[in-house]
Parts: sequence; C-alpha cells; structure tokens
Amino acid sequence: MPTITFASEKAADKREIQVSDGANLRQEALRAGVQLYPGIHRVANCHGLGSCGSCRVLITKGMENTSPKGLLESGRLAVSLAYIGNESTMRLACQTRVHGDVTVVTCPPLNMFGDNFFS
Ligand code: FES
Repeated sequence: MPTITFASEKAADKREIQVSDGANLRQEALRAGVQLYPGIHRVANCHGLGSCGSCRVLITKGMENTSPKGLLESGRLAVSLAYIGNESTMRLACQTRVHGDVTVVTCPPLNMFGDNFFS
C-alpha cells in the first residue's frame, strides 16, 4: 500500500496515510482532513475537474510514483505563475494518482523571487 506523507509547513496538516494503489491525491487529502486549498479556494474551486488550478501541491519525494501529467493538467499548470521554477515537482492533486510512496506539500507559497523565476 502506498504511503502519502503530508509535509506541509502547518503542523496541523502534517500526517502520514496509507492509500490503495491508484488513489486520487485530492480525495485522499480531503478524506484525511489535510488543508488542500488556500484561502477563498476552500469554497471556490472546481471540485476536482482540473480547471481552477487551486489544488496545486509539490511532490517533494516520489514523483516517479505518481501518474503522468495529462494534457489538461499540463495546460492548466502552464498558465500558472506558481509553476515557474517548480516544473519538476508541482502537480494538481485532483489529477494525480498515487502508485507508490510520496511526500506532498500542500498550499505551496508563490515564490516570485525563486532562483528560476526569470530564467
Ligand atoms: S480542484 Fe480545481 S484544479 Fe484541482
């Protein structure tokens, strides 16, 4: 059984859960009570349709254990400022299936001055 480790900055959102192979990351985070959406997006989101982009997470370990990005997810992330500099770690939780152990940071901050922002 894959293990999802939520390693967010907020202590209340740190936890480790076991899920079945192919589990949807958004559904598992919500089921575990992990805060997935920042601010107003807690109520104003697309509920997993892949169109709002507010369920962004960083997969800091185990990206190889997730489903590949589809066209919808790739397109949505491509128009997001937060994606710049995080291309190798950022996913939409609602579009991500888990097939092995992963470490996830939810509600990643927008890093406007990161090393890769203007490159
Ligand atoms: S919930 Fe809207 S993109 Fe994932």
